[in-house]
Amino acid sequence: MMKEAIRKSGVLIEALPYIKKFFGKIVVIKYGGAAVDEKGIDRGILRDIMFMHYAGMHPIVVHGGGPFISKMMKKAGLEPKFINGRRYTDEQAVRIIDKALSVINRKIVSELRGMGARAFGLSGRENNLIKVKKMTPGYDLGFVGEVTSVDTTVLKRLVKDNIVPVIYPLGLGRDGKLYNVNADDMASAIAAKLKAEKFVLLTNVMGIMKDKGNPKTLYKTLNSADVQRLINDKAIDSGMIPKAEACSKAIRGGVKKAHILNAGIEHAMLLEIFTDKGIGTEIVN
Ligand SMILES: Nc1ncnc2c1ncn2[C@@H]1O[C@H](COP(=O)(O)OP(=O)(O)O)[C@@H](O)[C@H]1O
Ligand SMILES: [Mg+2]
Repeated sequence: MMKEAIRKSGVLIEALPYIKKFFGKIVVIKYGGAAVDEKGIDRGILRDIMFMHYAGMHPIVVHGGGPFISKMMKKAGLEPKFINGRRYTDEQAVRIIDKALSVINRKIVSELRGMGARAFGLSGRENNLIKVKKMTPGYDLGFVGEVTSVDTTVLKRLVKDNIVPVIYPLGLGRDGKLYNVNADDMASAIAAKLKAEKFVLLTNVMGIMKDKGNPKTLYKTLNSADVQRLINDKAIDSGMIPKAEACSKAIRGGVKKAHILNAGIEHAMLLEIFTDKGIGTEIVN
């Protein structure tokens, strides 16, 4: 009994230098499609966010909603299509995405509130949070937006009041139209603008792998140049392209460190932030 109690206090003490280091600092957390649906997000992840919040960090949550969006699109007779990890989005799809993401958003906000945090949900279109233009990567993605500017006034106010912002990625174009924004892109733009201490991307794989089918080939640490080379060599493809680019961009924009972690590993975020164990891929300068 006594031994167990001492061991437990050891765990708390081990976390102290990290709690001190990150006290008052902003962490942008992107929670991926695969594990988010109409039922919200994993409670374990929410608890990690709560822990960070009460340890004095300022988590800002950005979420996607991949499978739920695809489900709603199919219901409406639309076939989901991805090109290089970004969803082809026609005008009808934007409306469906807006609806699906707002359902998920409300769910996450109410769960966080239920756990005892103050949380506030918004999309990129509100409070001029982001402005976008049509993304033109050399092929047509329809109404997919590239972030052109970020106004963090509302986020700073929320954070100052100890309210956790929960954001879903849609943005208005100069043409007054609504655009779908990849959640990785959106989270990266926000993290860079706020010069966040950390940028964490939770997804359905351990991180970036040399051979995506083999977890043993996981990269522990990469820099922007490595990431670009892996994309050119096609070792990184599909959904990992926007994710890897999001990390590089955030780092170049002044974020200290970016992490890609497996949301399926219990307390992946706490392990990464509050212990000396690195578990996923970290992207550094
Ligand atoms: N080199 C790689 N290492 C790891 N995953 C990769 C790699 N290249 C492509 N992927 C794919 O990227 C996917 C993650 O992106 P995505 O499906 O968009 O997830 P999310 O919903 O979290 O954004 C993985 O499931 C994996 O299939
Ligand atoms: Mg994705």
